[in-house]
Amino acid sequence: MAIDSSSGCGERKGVPVRRARQPNLSHCGDPGRFGRVADRGDRGRLQMTRVISTVGPAAGLADEMSMMDILSPMNIALEILLVTGGAAAIGAVLILGWGVLVERHWWQETRQRVDCRSPGQSTAGSGRVRIVLLSDFHLQRGARLDPALVARVNALQADLLLLAGDFIDDDRGIAACGAALGGLRARCGAFAVLGNHDHLRYGVRDMFRNDHTPAGRNNVAALVRALGEVGIRVLVNESVRIRVGAVSVHLLGLGDQLAGALDLPRARARFRNGARIVGPRIVLGHSAPPLEEFEPDHRTIGLAGHTHGGQIRIPRFSDWWLKRRLQLDHLRGWRESAHGGRVYVNRGIGTSRLLPIRVNARPELAVFDLVADACPSRSRSEAWAEERSPALAAEDSAPVA
Ligand SMILES: [Fe+2]
Repeated sequence: MAIDSSSGCGERKGVPVRRARQPNLSHCGDPGRFGRVADRGDRGRLQMTRVISTVGPAAGLADEMSMMDILSPMNIALEILLVTGGAAAIGAVLILGWGVLVERHWWQETRQRVDCRSPGQSTAGSGRVRIVLLSDFHLQRGARLDPALVARVNALQADLLLLAGDFIDDDRGIAACGAALGGLRARCGAFAVLGNHDHLRYGVRDMFRNDHTPAGRNNVAALVRALGEVGIRVLVNESVRIRVGAVSVHLLGLGDQLAGALDLPRARARFRNGARIVGPRIVLGHSAPPLEEFEPDHRTIGLAGHTHGGQIRIPRFSDWWLKRRLQLDHLRGWRESAHGGRVYVNRGIGTSRLLPIRVNARPELAVFDLVADACPSRSRSEAWAEERSPALAAEDSAPVA
């Protein structure tokens, strides 16, 4: 049906008929549209158009056409898309701000009670060891730890302070170690292992590569020296025996696997050496997988960091991506290994300079209260003593890979 607006209302002889005004289609912006609607034979719409065109101004027709355009499926879909996209963009900005400004600094204290006693051991024959575990500081030039965190660590009066590596991102962070970590206290000492970021310097491109090819290497000797100056002893495939009250603790620190510093045969020998003592055995590593290489028993636990708890945890996505990216299937908390060992992965304190954000993965101050068999035959005044069995003396002098 075609529209003839010049005779749209009909015209009888001798009866003057008010002619419909020619609609000014230029108001619609697209005169062709009008014709297309008419071609569809939309009678109802046509009638409405006639009424409007008869009694109303041309602007009325334009309004009616605008409403029809607005209600078209394409426009509705477009508007939904725009609204959804706008909401998503605002949400992303809010999450970004939260992750960078708030959650990244919002550390959380977690408590773990670990029973390392022999089966059937009574409480009377056991002692307690409190351990504070921190990791992944990623200190940069001039960095400091949150004073509240330092105060809390010291208030916990831990027997041992264990630090699971990634102190720095690059050599510029070494000078910050003293001021940042020097205020931390523990009754029987602070011990550390090094992480991949302590050895290797990464660039932006490395974030998207799986081969851990570094942009450069850091000055590890200077870092170990700086940590030593504030009383933190770095263990690289080495073990120490530490006396904590009535309990002897055997602590083994691993070299970092990703940096090629892990000497597993040597570490295993050190671990077996710990079988001679009564008390808990702790394997400290930067990343968790090597911790599963040691024969588990009731008194052995593994402690690690490295994953930052996933750092940006988007449900159903980030864990999958991180596991694929880092080849890790355990990102936080406890896990019983395939061999029955207990391994805890700490979420760490900091972030790398390349991705300074945390979402749904708060920094963590982990506290472990170990209950372990006491060893009353040893002097309680002994703080700690290195293991120096003849069989391992030669290995001690061997360079670490
Ligand atoms: Fe890290």
